[in-house]
Amino acid sequence: MVSLHLLSLLINLLKVGAYNIVSSSPLRLGIAGLGTVGAGVVRLLCEHADLLKTRTGRLLQVVAVSARDRTRDRGIDVTGLQWYDNALDLVQDSNVDVIVELIGGAEGVARTLVEKALKAGKPVVTANKALIALHGYELAMLSADYQVPLLFEAAVAGGIPAIKTVREGLAADRLLRIGGILNGTCNHILTVMRKTGQEFSTVLKEAQDLGYAEADPSTDIDGLDAAHKLTILAGLAFGRPVAFDSVYVEGIRHIAAQDHIFAQHLGYRIKLLGLARKTQNGLQAHVIPCLIPQYAPLAQVDGVFNAVIAEGEFVGRIMIEGRGAGAGPTASAVTADLVDIARGHAMTLWGVQSEVPEPVRACPISTGEAAFYLRLQVEDRPGVIADITAVLRDYGISLQSMLQYPAEKETLSSAESYASSYVPLVLMTHHLTSESAMQAAVAQIGALRVVTDTPVMIRIETP
Ligand SMILES: NC(=O)c1ccc[n+]([C@@H]2O[C@H](COP(=O)([O-])OP(=O)(O)OC[C@H]3O[C@@H](n4cnc5c(N)ncnc54)[C@H](OP(=O)(O)O)[C@@H]3O)[C@@H](O)[C@H]2O)c1
Repeated sequence: MVSLHLLSLLINLLKVGAYNIVSSSPLRLGIAGLGTVGAGVVRLLCEHADLLKTRTGRLLQVVAVSARDRTRDRGIDVTGLQWYDNALDLVQDSNVDVIVELIGGAEGVARTLVEKALKAGKPVVTANKALIALHGYELAMLSADYQVPLLFEAAVAGGIPAIKTVREGLAADRLLRIGGILNGTCNHILTVMRKTGQEFSTVLKEAQDLGYAEADPSTDIDGLDAAHKLTILAGLAFGRPVAFDSVYVEGIRHIAAQDHIFAQHLGYRIKLLGLARKTQNGLQAHVIPCLIPQYAPLAQVDGVFNAVIAEGEFVGRIMIEGRGAGAGPTASAVTADLVDIARGHAMTLWGVQSEVPEPVRACPISTGEAAFYLRLQVEDRPGVIADITAVLRDYGISLQSMLQYPAEKETLSSAESYASSYVPLVLMTHHLTSESAMQAAVAQIGALRVVTDTPVMIRIETP
C-alpha cells in the first residue's frame, strides 16, 4: 500500500513537472497603442509578472510595441522593446505570438491590424468596443475561418468581467434580458446633477475639467458608447450579433436639473440604461435615459461606476458592478484575456459552436410599450390641462398621475399675469402605453400654444 501511495505521489509530481515544461515558453506580445489602456497593460504585465506566471505557467512578455509618437513620456519603460511606427508591422514580426490592439476606432489601422493578425493566425486581444459592435459578424467569420481567437473582455464595462460572466458563467442558461449602466461619464453627470441640483452643461464642464469627460463628449453623452457595449452584450446573451444601426439610442443632453427633483419626489432616479430583451415582436435593444425606482439595485450605482444586469430562466437576476473605464480596470480586463490565451482557453466570438450566426436587427422602439414620465412647461391658466388631456385621450393614453408644481421665480415674467407665468406639469402614464401613440401625442402636445417649451419624455423601467 505504502509503495503504491509513493508511486502515485511520484506520478503526480511528474505530471506537474511535465505541465510546467510544456507550458513554460513565454507568450510574446505585440502591443499597438500605448495610451491610457496600452500603458496600463504594460504596467500591469510588469508589476504582476510573477503572479501571472504562477497563474498561467508562462511569462507574459511584451516584445514589441507601436504608437504614433516615439518620444512621448508614457510613464512606462519601453527600452529594449521593438518599436514599430507602423502598427501593421507587428503582425509580420515572427517574435510576436499575440497582437494586442489598443488604438481604438471602428475603422482604419485598428480594424486592418485585427483583420491582418487573424489572417496571419495570430490571436488578438482588443478593448475596442466600436470595432466589435460594428464589425463583430465579419470578425467572427475571420476568427472561425482561421481558427484564431479574438478576445475583447475590456470592450464592455472596463474592469467588470461582463463578457466572461455572460459567455462562460451564464453559458448554461437562456437569457431573457441583458444591459445596465454602461457609460461612466453619463452616470457621473446624472449623479452630480441629482446630488447638487446643477444643470447638465455646468456638470459636463466640471466633468471635463476633472478628466471624467472627453473634450468632445458626444460619443459618451449621446449614448453611442453605451450602444456599442449593449450591442456586444446582446450579441453574447442571445448568441447572435446584433446590427448596430438597429439599436435605438438617446443621450442625456435634454435631462434638466428639475427632472431629477421631480423623479426623486416620485420615488425614482434617472439613469442612462442600455437594455436588450427578447419580446414577442423580436429583439428590443435601446440606450435611453430612464426613471428607475429608487429601491432598484441599479439606482444605487452612482458616479463613474458601471453595472451589468442579466436575467436568465434558471439563474434569475444578477448584477455586477465596478469601474467601467480607466487604465487599471481596463488593463485588468485586457490581461485576463491574455491569461486565457496563455492557458489555451479558446472561445468563439459569440459563444456558439455552430456556423457564425447572421446579425439580427432590433425591432423599432415604436413597436414597444412602456410607462412614461412627461414634463411640460405650460401657461398657468385655466383650461390648459383640458387641452393636454384631450390629446392624450385622442391617442388612447391613460394617465396614472398628474402633478402640477409651483412655478419657480425665474420662470415667472410677471407674477400678476396668468398668461405670462409658466409652471411645470408632470404626467405619468399607465405602464402599457404604446410608444408610437406616446410619440405622436407628445409631438401634438408640444405644438399646443399653451405649452411653452419642448416636452421632456422619459421612459420608466423596472430593471
Ligand atoms: N480609456 C479607457 O478607460 C477605456 C476603457 C475601455 C475600453 N477602451 C478602449 O481601449 C482602446 C484604447 O483607448 P485609450 O483610452 O487607451 O486611447 P488613447 O489614450 O487615445 O490611446 C490610443 C493610443 O493609440 C496610439 N495610436 C493612435 N493611432 C495610431 C496608429 N495609427 N498607429 C499606432 N498607434 C496609434 C496612440 O499613440 P500616441 O500615444 O503616440 O498618440 C495612443 O498611444 C479604445 O478602443 C477604447 O475604446 C478604453
